[in-house]
Amino acid sequence: MSESITIDPSLPKEEKYKALLPQIESLVEGEDNLTANLGNICSALKYNMDRFFWVGFYIRKGDELILGPFQGPVACTRIQIPKGVCGTAVKQKKTIIVDDVNKFPGHIACSSESKSEIVVPIFTGDEVAAVLDVDSDDYSSFDEKDKLYLEKIAQMASKIISSGK
Ligand code: SME
Repeated sequence: MSESITIDPSLPKEEKYKALLPQIESLVEGEDNLTANLGNICSALKYNMDRFFWVGFYIRKGDELILGPFQGPVACTRIQIPKGVCGTAVKQKKTIIVDDVNKFPGHIACSSESKSEIVVPIFTGDEVAAVLDVDSDDYSSFDEKDKLYLEKIAQMASKIISSGK
């Protein structure tokens, strides 16, 4: 396991993701603890991607999503499916990008700093077992590139959740 992440802050977004992915893989390799690995993924994203104000996992338990490892200000601990952006992503089984959280009906505001958001479902088999939620402190921060790379990270998280202890 590598315990540091090195990303050139001047790189454009896609290049940052390309540099980050193998480093995240290396970070979680050889560790089977769920909390440790999900926590490190949050930190790697929050401290290397621009405007990632809050990064965290919500883990599904029945009809609820419960706050898991995260980086950022304190957040709501339980979200009833299909409420909020997170619950909608679970219900629709797809990534949701919100350019302006104030315009998303039913958005759950954990922080007034949050302006835009992306929520990526994490599958185990056909079921959504968790979501990866990223909030930005600016509007329209997320696009198809974020979707592409965060879905790759969600696939890593799926393996961690399936086999993690
Ligand atoms: N905004 C989310 C709630 C979680 S926070 O952003 C950390 C939602 O509407 O589901």
